[in-house]
Amino acid sequence: MYLPRIAILISGKGSNMEVILKACLESELPADISFVGSDNINAKGLETAAALGAPTRVFFYKRDGRKAAEEAIASAIEETKTDWIILAGFMKILSPDFVRRFPEKIINIHPAMLPLFPGAHGIRDAWEARADHTGVTVHIVDEEVDHGRILAQEEIEILPDDTLETLEERIHRVEHRIYKETLIKHFLENPISIEEREE
Ligand code: GAR
Repeated sequence: MYLPRIAILISGKGSNMEVILKACLESELPADISFVGSDNINAKGLETAAALGAPTRVFFYKRDGRKAAEEAIASAIEETKTDWIILAGFMKILSPDFVRRFPEKIINIHPAMLPLFPGAHGIRDAWEARADHTGVTVHIVDEEVDHGRILAQEEIEILPDDTLETLEERIHRVEHRIYKETLIKHFLENPISIEEREE
């Protein structure tokens, strides 16, 4: 059995990426990082990843357009023999063509109980809807946005004295635990075979 190779895609702070990267470095998560990639050259998480010794890559959506940027991501994935693509706050929508190229190999975390509150503002949308619960979802990415087979979900109560900030903080805390735990379990249950690695 091979240690799976993962690429983590981010757009901003990269706090989920940092937890996953550290778990790999400490062998808590049995995976090797092939690279941390971003559509945003100024993403804070790129600095964090580089400081922790991970290779980083930038994909230029604005300059090159989505098709070329996705082609660059796919080339990087193939070149580095990456097995799993881990989205951690990657705020670009991957095209159906891209998703079809890596079936069941792209995993995402979303800060709400999908199918409720998909999109770029899952926490704020639940807050503004005055929902009494929200949560966190880890799922396989399919061709629809924030959609696909759910691997793990955890509900979080919105408390009467919560502010948007305290809610965000609690959600991020749950994300950091659930993403790591779910990946550990998923990689164990779906080992990379010799045939797959040698393709
Ligand atoms: C996380 O809350 C993640 O669930 C969310 O972006 C944040 C990134 O934070 N993703 C989505 O909303 C996807 N639709 P981070 O950069 O600190 O990990």
